[in-house]
Amino acid sequence: MKKILLFNLCLLFVASSWAQELSIIPQPVLVQSQPGSFILKNNFTVGVSSNDEVTARVVNYITKKLSVSTGFAFSTGKIEKNSIFRFHLSRLKNSELGTEGYQLNVYPDSVSITANQPAGLFYAVQTFLQLLPKEIESKDPVKNFSWSAPCVRITDYPRFAWRGLMLDVSRHFFTKDQVKQFIDEMVRYKYNRFHWHLTDDEGWRIEIKSLPKLTQVGAWRVPRVGRWAEFSPPTPDEPRNYGGFYTQEEIKEVVQYAKDNFVEVLPEIDMPGHSLAFIASYPEICGTPGTYQVNSGERLIDWTLPGHPAVVNNTIDPSNEKAYELIDKVMGEVANLFPFEYIHMGGDECSKNFWEKNESIAKLMKKEKLQDMNEVQSYFVKRMEKIIESKKKKMIGWDEILEGGLKGNAAVMSWRGSKGGIEAAKLGHQVVMSPNDFAYLDLRQGDALTEPPIYSSVRLNQSYRFEPVPEGVDPKLILGGQGNLWSERLTTWRSVQYMVYPRALSIAETLWSPKESKNWDSFVRKTENHFKRLDVSETKYSTALYDCVFEPQKDDHGKLQIELSTEISGLDIFYTFDETNPDQFYPKYVAPLSVPKDAVTLKVVTYRNRKQIGKQINMPIDELKKRAGIK
Ligand code: ACM
Repeated sequence: MKKILLFNLCLLFVASSWAQELSIIPQPVLVQSQPGSFILKNNFTVGVSSNDEVTARVVNYITKKLSVSTGFAFSTGKIEKNSIFRFHLSRLKNSELGTEGYQLNVYPDSVSITANQPAGLFYAVQTFLQLLPKEIESKDPVKNFSWSAPCVRITDYPRFAWRGLMLDVSRHFFTKDQVKQFIDEMVRYKYNRFHWHLTDDEGWRIEIKSLPKLTQVGAWRVPRVGRWAEFSPPTPDEPRNYGGFYTQEEIKEVVQYAKDNFVEVLPEIDMPGHSLAFIASYPEICGTPGTYQVNSGERLIDWTLPGHPAVVNNTIDPSNEKAYELIDKVMGEVANLFPFEYIHMGGDECSKNFWEKNESIAKLMKKEKLQDMNEVQSYFVKRMEKIIESKKKKMIGWDEILEGGLKGNAAVMSWRGSKGGIEAAKLGHQVVMSPNDFAYLDLRQGDALTEPPIYSSVRLNQSYRFEPVPEGVDPKLILGGQGNLWSERLTTWRSVQYMVYPRALSIAETLWSPKESKNWDSFVRKTENHFKRLDVSETKYSTALYDCVFEPQKDDHGKLQIELSTEISGLDIFYTFDETNPDQFYPKYVAPLSVPKDAVTLKVVTYRNRKQIGKQINMPIDELKKRAGIK
């Protein structure tokens, strides 16, 4: 009996140590570690049970990927006894796996993948790649290397059908190839919706053949470098040579590329606010006569005043029938280019101050019995839905489309927290959750002192707390969620990646993995392993999770008290007020700090196992006082 117990204990120990070695993001539904490992060798064979074109693409994907870094040759054919990779599309559908689930068995001598649909095979491939050493992400062959993967049985399927990332290409234009790279990177973590924010005040990025000025005029602005929203306005003679757009051929290419990677593309045409690029091209759609120019990052909205009035009228006039004619043309061409069932009409942050002075809108209100500006906006939204549905598409919009009443079948993307999503679901609308307090990727990941300037933050641990289904809401109405990356402050591709990673890993886990399997400590360990993979693939990411977090407070006597912490456990914080640079031989933080008389700076640094891991942060005491509300 004792022996059996000991044997079982040993098994448990061995099984758990195998389990610990796996760093799969998002966490699969069921992982059963097995003894042994599989080693990929040259001239490997791939067997496929079906000869459909989509499965062939998945096979092509993995063979190409494996051969880049291993340099190995391979052959493909029917499943034979000696096939190393076996791809099965099951005839008898496994209802547990659904359309995107899979079973992956890694044996010492082969790898077997089963799914109902090719998408499942594709996600199994993504999981398998994560079982291989990080060197698999190398862009060049790695010689004399053992390509081993632990033996394992995995059953996996997603929690949500909609697992999205949004990229804003209006504020800064990113090329077709960069967009494809974005898609390459997102599918590694099983994202399947690419939301393409194609138009805004700063640029119109999609060719509309019937309205050529949209890209002749609307795609270009003057270049500016520095701090967004503080730029000087363009002068009349300044060349407008910064920007770009995608031709319809390029759009088709990206849509096909996404489809080949099992990604649907959601196009967004943002209206009736955020429309300055449209208005600069066709000023007749604006209710304020004049000539307009595409915004270059100079102040456009006064965010400090109630109602957020626009400084320049960047809104479409909802009482103008000509505007609807133009929008109909835009939507017709958009609908033909994008096979996805939804078109996003924007609807967010529409200033109403110019509408309030517009006589034609006053007449419309009388005629349509509209009580206020929210109802005017709602009138516009209804007209949008009619146009979009006339193109055989469904409409989705930001949560402002609820204002003034939302009827019909529109889906709502909740961004001002989860509030709009809850309200929409209560009205029976479908919802995609992208709350700014958890899923906004343009916000800071670390302290304001060390990060690019922006008004707020979402640290990694905050993004990991994202829960798309609020209490009391029918989960069937929550299609899923997404992370949104606005690009006002992102001028380079490296800065795009920096904002996306590692938070996209966390959102991926929320959207794919069972809620009960989420575990912050385990996620952090896995993320650290993925940092090494991102290093090999030369993808930039933020390491702010290692940095010190400052929590300054005013105590009962009005004095500054400073609490320090870290997002992840196991780090030590060392600090000093004496202006020298701290290391592990300095005082270790154990309890809230009071500031010594005359101290000017609190310098901190984090260590793990006697090695520096976080950045040194030199925090001015005055800044901490300001944050604590001490004058
Ligand atoms: C948004 O962030 N304005 C949707």
